[in-house]
Amino acid sequence: MAFIDAEQLPLTEIRLFRPSVGQEELDAVKKIFDRSWLGLGGEVASFEREFADYLGVPAALGLNSGTAALQLALEAFGFPEGKKVLVNNLTFVASATCILINRLEPILVDCDVETLGFDLADASRKVDKDTVAMVVVHYGGHPAPMDRVMAFARLHGLKVIEDCAHCVGGSYRGRKLGTWGDAACFSFEEKKGMTTGDGGMLVSHDSEIIERMRPHRWVGIDKDTWRRRESYTSSDEADTRHWHYEVAVLGYKYNMNDLAACIGRIQLRKLDAFNLRRRQIIERYLRSIAGIEGLRPLLPYLPGHEAYWLFGIRTRHRDHVIRCLKNQRIATGVHYMPLSLHPLFADYNKQLPVSNAVWEELLTLPLHTKITDEEVDKVSAALRSSFEQVSVS
Ligand SMILES: Cc1ncc(COP(=O)(O)O)c(C=O)c1O
Repeated sequence: MAFIDAEQLPLTEIRLFRPSVGQEELDAVKKIFDRSWLGLGGEVASFEREFADYLGVPAALGLNSGTAALQLALEAFGFPEGKKVLVNNLTFVASATCILINRLEPILVDCDVETLGFDLADASRKVDKDTVAMVVVHYGGHPAPMDRVMAFARLHGLKVIEDCAHCVGGSYRGRKLGTWGDAACFSFEEKKGMTTGDGGMLVSHDSEIIERMRPHRWVGIDKDTWRRRESYTSSDEADTRHWHYEVAVLGYKYNMNDLAACIGRIQLRKLDAFNLRRRQIIERYLRSIAGIEGLRPLLPYLPGHEAYWLFGIRTRHRDHVIRCLKNQRIATGVHYMPLSLHPLFADYNKQLPVSNAVWEELLTLPLHTKITDEEVDKVSAALRSSFEQVSVS
């Protein structure tokens, strides 16, 4: 059977995102095929252990998406219906749909004009006695100021869920992102800093939270088949109840499977090298676009910060630039149109002057570990020439 060559998939010549997977991941998948246990099993358990160790937290829960992780993270705290949760306005919808799904009210927080992240000043204007938590997104991989975020949260008695979909492997003030809050959620969707195809991880300092949510990822069953399997053929013939399990909580089918986990284990070993390469690409971009009039880098790109997911620019000429780059078969994106402008969140579009305006200037450029220096230079040259056209017109 012929497979479609991945090279044939994109219509663009330089892709915006691209997963970095190769022979090692294929070898790992082959082992899982040979073992013929593809679902929730030992690989998931090993990946959870290794991911928790990498971060320095006691426990992690392997899931099928970052979206599932966010949903379970909020559910874990059992907030009464209708309570309020602060969340970035400039983010992917999953950061806030988890709030609605948990029958809570999202309070959209404006972005800081420099970092485009969670604006604590706006949060202090919006927090009230019904607010119970905050979902803080490390937008684009740029770390939210977690020392100040945690001080604010403790002052107002709020739980903090870090949305780490963009910053796997990153840290703030020497401490890994995802270890500051009460819980944190990671995404291993194919475009992210490391991937399992699709996948996610919920982590916390509090292993009780993780263990309590474990049945929730597998339709509420208290003892998954991997944990039951040994007793299927155990020598204790008197035990005829080895198949027994109970469902005491309402759960979902949100588990990670062994195929995804075996890829994740390899990716985790490569994560620091991936982040280093992304950093080098960003530095190359910054050098080559310096001095182009009419644009500025999307983010402050802190020197030495390891885990940026987005590279891009801000410009008033965004649509012109998109057209010019498209013309040269260079992919671009916009992250994001704010939540407040989606029909689902129309009722929550309140006092968001920065995000409701600044997003019109945001443009994401190709960034992935497989992009070559020549391609980065080609993108930068295309940018430069698009701005030359602006200045003569
Ligand atoms: C900020 C943010 N949070 C959550 C998610 C959801 O992750 P997933 O696609 O793994 O469900 C994403 C995905 O892009 C994201 O960008």
